[in-house]
Amino acid sequence: MPKKERKKGLFLSIEGPDGAGKTTQARMLKERLEKMGLPVVLTREPGGTPIGEEIRKILLNPDFREMTVPCEILLYSAARAQLVSECIYPSLQKGITVISDRYLDSTIVYQGLAGGEKPEIIEMINMWAAGRLLPEITFLLDIDVETGLRRLRGKYTGAPDWRGDRMEQKELEFHRKVRQGFLQLASRDSERFFVIQAGDRPESVHEKIWEKMQEILRDPAKG
Ligand code: TYD
Repeated sequence: MPKKERKKGLFLSIEGPDGAGKTTQARMLKERLEKMGLPVVLTREPGGTPIGEEIRKILLNPDFREMTVPCEILLYSAARAQLVSECIYPSLQKGITVISDRYLDSTIVYQGLAGGEKPEIIEMINMWAAGRLLPEITFLLDIDVETGLRRLRGKYTGAPDWRGDRMEQKELEFHRKVRQGFLQLASRDSERFFVIQAGDRPESVHEKIWEKMQEILRDPAKG
């Protein structure tokens, strides 16, 4: 069903490799939009609902190293199905802007292009589970893998026993594929994706996002 008929709020997602600073940018964007008087819901994946947060604990538990890619796909998609139906879709219907810290593109990239599963299978499962809902704009925060992972470790300085979550523990090669995967998706769909270099200070990254955001807000076809 055509997206413009289904929703009234603007649906945005922020994507990128681990350590790109998505969460900080999502919060900054939410605050800025709220200052303009727009109602905004910020949500994250996996998680964002009580059920989704429980699924998140399983997905990121570093003890579950044996978890298969199909199991990951189904769990990420299950959390997303709940998030769409409980939070994203009703919010959009009320005219609320939704910012999702990760969405379907993360599954296509982490479990598909980097994890080895066919992207079409992931798309099919999600089209069924998440009701064909896609963001209007996806901000892709691009960062080189080493810098991203270094940033993550920096966050935990002073915790010498830091292991990272189950996904962060994967090898460098996997994280390289993740970065390439996101760039590949962005080049295929340049209308939806907006790529931002995320190595700068958070304030300058935010300004770049904000510039694009203003353009989107001026466009009456959006939202
Ligand atoms: P996130 O909480 O965004 O971690 P970070 O802020 O460190 O980037 O995401 C948790 C991990 O889950 C992250 O390594 C990416 C991974 N992930 C997938 O593998 N598939 C998915 O569909 C999603 C949403 C996340």
